[in-house]
Amino acid sequence: MKIVSIKNQLGKDIQRFLRLRIKNGYYIEDTHQLTETILDHKISLVGTTKDGKVIKLIRARTWHEKLKLLWGKSRTHIEFYGASLLNEVGIRAPKVYELGIKLPWQNGSEFIGYYIMEDLRQADFQPIKPLIISNAINAHGKEIILHQLTKKLMTMKQQQIIYGDLHFNNVFFNTQTKELAFIDTGAKKVHSPSKFEKKFTQNIRKFCKGSARELFNKEQIDQLTLNLEI
Ligand SMILES: Nc1ncnc2c1ncn2[C@@H]1O[C@H](COP(=O)(O)OP(=O)(O)O)[C@@H](O)[C@H]1O
Ligand SMILES: [Mg+2]
Repeated sequence: MKIVSIKNQLGKDIQRFLRLRIKNGYYIEDTHQLTETILDHKISLVGTTKDGKVIKLIRARTWHEKLKLLWGKSRTHIEFYGASLLNEVGIRAPKVYELGIKLPWQNGSEFIGYYIMEDLRQADFQPIKPLIISNAINAHGKEIILHQLTKKLMTMKQQQIIYGDLHFNNVFFNTQTKELAFIDTGAKKVHSPSKFEKKFTQNIRKFCKGSARELFNKEQIDQLTLNLEI
């Protein structure tokens, strides 16, 4: 374990963290500097680092998210390990390299943790929603996306994995290889079949009423739920 400092574009300290995990072969630095901010909003700050990786700093949404840090169940942990879990079952997600949490003795920290991952754009992935909205993808491309998504959701169902935040800004597509990749990987196994079934159904229904409905028609969505037996 080591103390790591994250700095903004100007070299000013954003926050210091306790590094808990580092993946083999990843070059270890004690300072990470942001080079670009991709998104900075209520729940997170996402940017790139000098060495071309994506860093996500996570803000607590509720007070008990801070508590969850104590037993390794915070959003930072779930997203970091969720990415590995998805990759293990053959669902593409960013490779993750490093995980840290706020210094336990520091109260009032802005962020509860951070993790560093692969930049999917470097592997030619792009978020699906803007791709479809800008008409960069035609009707056939959309069919492919839906087909691939169905397959990946079926794998999740088979593996009893709940992927928390399913929508088309969190799913990326590689137009060359036709592969999908999932970010924002709050994903975990739910071992109780009844609990899993309930949660999975809830999530898919929410997705179908929201994000899917914006980009796909009723027949396509009905087909998705039929294939997933929901
Ligand atoms: N691994 C990644 N590669 C490329 N872009 C990413 C990656 N992770 C996040 N992003 C970008 O940052 C944005 C926010 O990330 P996300 O994890 O969805 O944050 P939030 O939990 O706040 O929604 C995404 O919409 C995407 O554009
Ligand atoms: Mg997101």
